[in-house]
Amino acid sequence: MTSHWDILWTNVRLATLNPDIKRPYGAIEKGALAVRDGRIAWLGNADDRPDTPCRETRDGGGGWMTPGLIDCHTHLVFAGNRCHEFEQRQQGASYQQIAEQGGGIRATVSATRTSSEEQLFQQAVPRLRAYLDEGVTSIEIKSGYGLETDAELRMLRTARRLGREFPVTVHSSFLGAHALPEEYSGRPDGYIDRVCSEMMDAVCAEALADSVDMFCEQIGFSLAQCERVIQSASRHGLPVRVHAEQLSNLRASHLAASHQALSVDHLEHLDEPGVMALARAGTVATLLPGAFYFLRETRLPPIELLRRHGVPMAVASDFNPGSSPQASLRLSMQMAATLFGLSAEEVLAGVTRNAARALGMEKQRGQLRQGLRADLLLWEINDPAELVWHYGSNRPRTILQEGQDVSTR
Ligand code: NIG
Ligand code: FE
Repeated sequence: MTSHWDILWTNVRLATLNPDIKRPYGAIEKGALAVRDGRIAWLGNADDRPDTPCRETRDGGGGWMTPGLIDCHTHLVFAGNRCHEFEQRQQGASYQQIAEQGGGIRATVSATRTSSEEQLFQQAVPRLRAYLDEGVTSIEIKSGYGLETDAELRMLRTARRLGREFPVTVHSSFLGAHALPEEYSGRPDGYIDRVCSEMMDAVCAEALADSVDMFCEQIGFSLAQCERVIQSASRHGLPVRVHAEQLSNLRASHLAASHQALSVDHLEHLDEPGVMALARAGTVATLLPGAFYFLRETRLPPIELLRRHGVPMAVASDFNPGSSPQASLRLSMQMAATLFGLSAEEVLAGVTRNAARALGMEKQRGQLRQGLRADLLLWEINDPAELVWHYGSNRPRTILQEGQDVSTR
């Protein structure tokens, strides 16, 4: 069989994010990239291009091509809103106080439990569209506002449906251990029994989750309770991720690392031993500057330690109604640079290569590299740093999912 390409992109500058290419952004300035069967068939310097027959050639106009953006932490499916809590916080109440008084996550749980799957879907669509417009081609979506079997299943089915009906890869996470539902007040272990048995079984029976998440915190669940959730996840063959060290240090990162978690997320209270545990395990540190900003936190995640120990850092939006009500990965990228001091290159790696790893997708996505999926963005910019500097308006000129132009869908 003669080999051929489906599409050849010429006149493009490639920000490959391939760490083996020892230039900023893994850049190939005078690049070309070929797609076949939805995958990157070849890329490199235009002058080195092999003479392979091609069905279609497209001129990239000298723009920059990057991998599709990946948001590896969102709570995109939920009902209701928590605007009144925002106002309470403006008057001095803290996020923790509101949670302890039955608001916070529990408020969204009440609204979500009374919503049908169709209602959850309809509310999620405009939020997802906002991400797609920005160039997000893969997104993680958690459950965690149902906290009972049927409502958790409705959330996860909604996430799956979004992935079927829109040009985006959805990774869904079962977050049954997000908060203690009211009916289990004073009985957190009883609720965790439920999460690890009936709820996990039901989620897995429909293959609705790609990973299992949990909130290890004083207002969430203890280390021992989270460990039980992790054990149940591994019995079902599912990898884990943990909301860790957000408001205090419970050593959740140690626990996560000892179970080879894909990622630990938030991390404002992470210490050096925790960083070292992550480095040994190869667990990704996912930074969520949107929550840091919105909760007016002052303690920064230990960025310099993460760098020094070579822990891969991802950046995500954490979109949710309580601590990060913003459906924008681009804004989160800007915040990661401005609030956390990441370089533009670290930020871009954080929403491509490292975000892919946080979702266990690094063999398929997150870099421009031969054999990976052709989820590609073409930008009218002169420098990849513009994607971090300038937010809110510069959309990708072209968005490709598996090589197909989905810019107008
Ligand atoms: O990632 N930390 C726990 N979960 C969310 C907040 C959820 C909420 O307040 O509704 C977070 O910040
Ligand atoms: Fe979260």
